[in-house]
Amino acid sequence: MAKAFGFVDYGGPETQEFLDRPVLAAGPGQLAITVRAAGVNPVDWKIRRGLFGRERQLPAVMGQEAAGVVQQVGPGVTGFTPGDEVFGVAAAGGFAEQTLLLARMSALKPANVDFDRAATLPVSVATADDAVRDVGLGSGQTLLILGIAGGVGSAAAQIARSRGLRVLGTASDANREHVESLGAVHIRYGDGVAERIAKAAPDGVDGILDLVGGDALRAAAVTLADRSKLVSTADPVAAAQLGGRYVTRSTTRESLAALAALVAVGELDPHVTGRYPLTHAAEALALVESGHVRGKLVLEVA
Ligand SMILES: NC(=O)c1ccc[n+]([C@@H]2O[C@H](COP(=O)([O-])OP(=O)(O)OC[C@H]3O[C@@H](n4cnc5c(N)ncnc54)[C@H](OP(=O)(O)O)[C@@H]3O)[C@@H](O)[C@H]2O)c1
Repeated sequence: MAKAFGFVDYGGPETQEFLDRPVLAAGPGQLAITVRAAGVNPVDWKIRRGLFGRERQLPAVMGQEAAGVVQQVGPGVTGFTPGDEVFGVAAAGGFAEQTLLLARMSALKPANVDFDRAATLPVSVATADDAVRDVGLGSGQTLLILGIAGGVGSAAAQIARSRGLRVLGTASDANREHVESLGAVHIRYGDGVAERIAKAAPDGVDGILDLVGGDALRAAAVTLADRSKLVSTADPVAAAQLGGRYVTRSTTRESLAALAALVAVGELDPHVTGRYPLTHAAEALALVESGHVRGKLVLEVA
């Protein structure tokens, strides 16, 4: 049996429990791994609250991204062998001592990238990469990132800067130094945000990457003339109403390997700011659910 952390019913944190589940065998297109680290994301509590439907078989193990060591390679999978250190999108929950990865959304972990940072790449950092590409700006243009201080935002800022973009980002004053360390201009969110953005970018911004949604997005969208350059990872409804769109995800083994290579040479830092043992999964998840984590939180397993 393997220890795992999941939820037994849709709802709040009170539905979360530690579970013992049988060790899983790799099916077609899958890798079975011993988990060494798992990234914690807002999607984990959103799924638990039923915001992505209520059709899952319960209890469900939480966690969408993980890194670990291959135990078994499933039928039809090439490019991996038992003992490989890998990271990828979890097919059976990442908050566990043992799980399955989708082989086509997994890659080999470079030796000098630790499991913690590798575990942030499949969902959080890959989303940042997809979203910056989706906005479609060129060198010298100005990108506004709403919610720049979190996991996706911290990576997106670095990726955008590496492509020659000027980056503005909204965050609380507590995150000013962090935002500036990413090479971005800090804009405090809340009342008057449009005026502060206009002051920092008198000609307007060329694109918006929204990681917050709702009123925060509506308030900032007035600073963007061409709404085809508005992409959201957080609020597909508001984005569409404003003339923008939801991010298009395109994670592949190759795209993950490319991100890991950037981390390996020090050009991209996922900013892991908190590491928790699996036994403290609820604590880490509660912090993410509070909506104010800086960078990424990771569960360390074994
Ligand atoms: N579609 C996809 O494939 C996909 C993939 C990954 C993530 N997402 C979504 O993308 C969003 C961002 O994910 P994430 O992992 O980056 O979240 P996160 O790390 O939990 O974001 C936390 C950050 O949000 C900031 N924040 C909170 N309220 C804000 C506001 N009103 N204005 C500006 N910043 C604010 C906080 O900054 P302060 O502490 O300074 O307030 C904090 O640093 C989430 O909705 C997530 O579900 C979607």
